[in-house]
This record gives sequence, structure tokens and C-alpha cells, in this order.
Amino acid sequence: MLLDDTDRVLITKEQLAARVAELGKQISADYAGKTPVLVCTLKGAFTFFADLTRAIDIPVTTDFVAASSYGSGAVSGGSVQLRKDLDNSILGRDVIIVEDIIDTGITLQALADVMQARKPNSLRICCCLDKPSRRRNGLKADYVGFEIPNEFVVGYGLDYNELYRNLDAVYVLKHSIYE
Ligand code: IMP
Ligand code: MG
Repeated sequence: MLLDDTDRVLITKEQLAARVAELGKQISADYAGKTPVLVCTLKGAFTFFADLTRAIDIPVTTDFVAASSYGSGAVSGGSVQLRKDLDNSILGRDVIIVEDIIDTGITLQALADVMQARKPNSLRICCCLDKPSRRRNGLKADYVGFEIPNEFVVGYGLDYNELYRNLDAVYVLKHSIYE
């Protein structure tokens, strides 16, 4: 069974649902009168994105991006290649990048730089999970679901070797799986 590969649940589906509802309320209030574009970073953010967008009650548009980072972990300020780019221009738009987890912050900083160069009206970051102890740059998300310790987690969209994304909560993966 898939769950046998996990040590314990870190964030339950009830906790996820409650926090996502709060984030949706906060974003709806902060962007009242505007129509932000929510950018889903594939693949990891897809579950969080689906829940977050439905917790927002102002008009939004959605777009999708897939980034693969070069030398993330090794090269600070690493560059990013877009395996899938946005469909639409973000010039003058209020952009919210929706990310699954921020670890070193290198991938997301590079992605944010690419987006900023396209001259949006504003750019913010909303992440479901944040591992602040792992950060290698000053990157801070504007909206954070949960700060978590330095553990490898799976589920709620997050994978290890493409598996476990379909678990409905956030679990700590057993060390024996990846060691
Ligand atoms: P970084 O912030 O550039 O180090 O990269 C963050 C990316 O690494 C995330 O978008 C995830 O794809 C992946 N990642 C980091 N920590 C975890 C984890 O605990 N579980 C699953 N994926 C992770
Ligand atoms: Mg990711």
C-alpha cells in the first residue's frame, strides 16, 4: 500500500482544507477589484492550485508553467528553463505564482526573475509548504500555507520519483525509500 512507504502524516487533509480556505479568503480580500492571474507551477502545485483557486471568490484567470532548474542546489542564483511556458502575456497583470514547496528557493527565485522581466503590474508568491531552514537565498513567499521542518514530504501533489502525488495529505516519506 502506498501509505506503507510513509512514516507519518505531517499535515492532515483537514488542516490543509482549513488553511487553504484562509489563504483563499486573504487573497480574495487583498486583490478585491482586480483580476489576478494565478500561475500554477507544474507538476507539484496542481493539487494545491485546484483547491486554492476554488477558495478564491473574486475573478481570476489561470495559467500553467513547468520549470526545470539547472544546477539547483549546486549553483546559487541558478537559471531556469521553462519546459512549458505560460499561454498568455502577463504584461500589466497582477501575477500570483502558486508553488507547492519552497526548499532552497533557487528554482522559484529564477522563475520569479523570468516573470518579473515580463513586466507584470505586481508579482507575488503563494506556496503551500515552506522549509525556511533550507533556504539558500533571501526568497520569501507572500502567502505561506505551512512552515515545515527539514523533512522530505510527499502527497498533496508532491512526489518522490513521480510517485505519491495522489496521497490526499502531506506525509513524511520513509528514509528507507530514498536512501
Ligand atoms: P528549490 O526551492 O529550488 O530547492 O526547489 C524546490 C522544489 O524541489 C520543489 O518545487 C519540489 O519540486 C522539490 N522539493 C523540495 N523539497 C521537497 C520535498 O520535501 N518533497 C517533494 N519535493 C520537494
Ligand atoms: Mg515543484
